[in-house]
Amino acid sequence: MKSGSSVAVYPGSFDPITYGHVDIVDRTLAIFPELIVGVANNPSKKGIFSVAERIELISESLKDRKGVRVESFEGLLVDFCKERGAAVIIRGLRALSDFEFEFQMAMMNQRMRPEGETVFMMTGPQYFYLSSSIIKEVVQFGGDVGGLVPEVVNERLKSYHGRKLSGR
Ligand code: PNS
Repeated sequence: MKSGSSVAVYPGSFDPITYGHVDIVDRTLAIFPELIVGVANNPSKKGIFSVAERIELISESLKDRKGVRVESFEGLLVDFCKERGAAVIIRGLRALSDFEFEFQMAMMNQRMRPEGETVFMMTGPQYFYLSSSIIKEVVQFGGDVGGLVPEVVNERLKSYHGRKLSGR
C-alpha cells in the first residue's frame, strides 16, 4: 500500500443500501477521510433498482456525511481504484459465510494490483444478519423493514410489496 494514500473505495451492488452498509461507511470515515462508494454496474446481474436509482438512494442516505462521493463503475474494481488513486478497498464482513467469497476476491484483486489493499470492517452486531437479499425477500412478502434500511429506501421499497424481486 502506498503510504499517504487516504482515498478508500467501498464497492458493492447496494441493491438496495441497508443500515449495515451505512454502518460500514461510518466506520470507514473514522479512519479514511475520503470515501468513494462504488456501485458496480454489472449488466448480467439484474437488480431491483437501476444503477442510477441506487446512486440516488445511497446519496440521499449519506447526504449528511462529509468526504463521501457515490459513483458507478464498470469492469474491474482494481481498474476503478487505480483511476481514482485509491489504494484501499473496503469490504464489510458479517458472519463466517462471507469469508470464503471475500477471501477469494481479495486475493484475486491483490494479484491484479499488488499495491492495493483490501481492508475488512466488521459490521456492528445489530446488523450482522442483514443483507440486501434478505431485505428484498421480506419486502416481497409484505414484511416491515423499517429501521433496517434508510427511510428513503424503505419508502421506495413499499411499492415493491407483492412483486417478485430478483437480484441478490
Ligand atoms: O455487494 P456485492 O454484490 O457483494 O459486491 C461485489 C462486487 C461488486 C464488489 C464485485 O462483484 C466486484 O468487484 N465487481 C467488479 C468486477 C470485478 O472486479 N470482479 C473481480 C473481483 S475479484
